[in-house]
Amino acid sequence: MAEYEEATTNYGAAKTPKFVAPTGDDFGGKKEFKSPKQPYDHFMDAEGVPVYREIGFEDVRDLELGDWARTGGRGAYIQLLGTEELWGMHLIEVPPGGALEIDQHIYEKIMYVVEGAGTTEVWRNGMTDTAPQTFEWGQGSLFGIPLNAPHRLVNGSGKRALLIAGTTAPAVLNMYDNREFIFANPYPFAERYDGKSDFFDYRDELVADPVRGRAMQVTNLIPDLPNLDMPLDNQRGPGTKRIQPWMANARFYMKVLEFQVGRYAPAHHHPPSAILICIKGGGFTYTWPLEASLKPWEAGNGDMVKRVDYRPGGMVAAAPGGGDWVHQHFATSAEPLRVLAMNGPPSARIAGLLAPPGATLKSSNLGRSEGGKSIEFWDEDPHIRAEFEAQLAKNGITTRMPPELYVRPEGR
Ligand SMILES: [Fe+2]
Repeated sequence: MAEYEEATTNYGAAKTPKFVAPTGDDFGGKKEFKSPKQPYDHFMDAEGVPVYREIGFEDVRDLELGDWARTGGRGAYIQLLGTEELWGMHLIEVPPGGALEIDQHIYEKIMYVVEGAGTTEVWRNGMTDTAPQTFEWGQGSLFGIPLNAPHRLVNGSGKRALLIAGTTAPAVLNMYDNREFIFANPYPFAERYDGKSDFFDYRDELVADPVRGRAMQVTNLIPDLPNLDMPLDNQRGPGTKRIQPWMANARFYMKVLEFQVGRYAPAHHHPPSAILICIKGGGFTYTWPLEASLKPWEAGNGDMVKRVDYRPGGMVAAAPGGGDWVHQHFATSAEPLRVLAMNGPPSARIAGLLAPPGATLKSSNLGRSEGGKSIEFWDEDPHIRAEFEAQLAKNGITTRMPPELYVRPEGR
């Protein structure tokens, strides 16, 4: 196991200038200052691989990776805009015919395989001298690494494997700021991982999530997420399909959404946390700050709208900055657009809902006229429908949006 340097942010030991009290009624302290690096930012810097801070990527396979001594592979950190301190992401390449170092940490890790195939070995904490539990994965697999379980990724094939990892590392690093505590912690967390032989068996049963009643799949491995049979959900527009995988007894929240050919989802708004990873089909996302108005082009704020085009392997931050961002996802491919949306640890930020336990909440996917945060199609900026249809035409597809969706029902 690698050694870790001591914490890099310690205000007590830092050389800081003496405080000078203001004179008169002036502000004490600075009126303008730089956003500081947090312990997790220092940690990423010290890892020696690139750190990408963008709104999204058309395909992460285009990104340059760096040699990563701690992991024994090559990789890069990704911190899409707006997700700072919420949760972390990285790319990790397992070389052909090679294996990574054994890794272990008290943050959660969910892994999606962008390309390649291999196996993961998992041990119960403190038992790496025994035989590991092993499971196989290939392109499109999704799996969860149990909290603080030693694990190792092995690639027996002749081609590289590339995986995207979503983690709760920022919360843990920023809170405890001690790498030995985080990466060499003997606590077993047996309630997360019991070592039972069927732990990584695929389970296809769908249950209703206990809060919102939507389709949840409790399984620690999904072998082929792009081709998984998914049920109708309809909350992000008629025809949308959705499941919510719950893996490795983690608190990490994610869902898989599918938008049908020639359809798009209504725009809606909430604070940052979600990153959409394209796993099938293709399309684009528009996202804009709420202050650009609900109809940004009509308001003359079209330049505040950010757009990311993506295909399998691409990703986008749904809300790439502070405050509420309106965002809208468009399928423009000849097959449905399927995305894995990671939100990280559950929090009130997930749907922009902040309320004490027991308060009644409404689905933010309801239309605005019903008390939700979705902009009904009849109420959206007309530029959106025009641009969507123009993009479809380029791909030889015609819209399948029912025209009546654009007609305001009486009384709403
Ligand atoms: Fe959203």
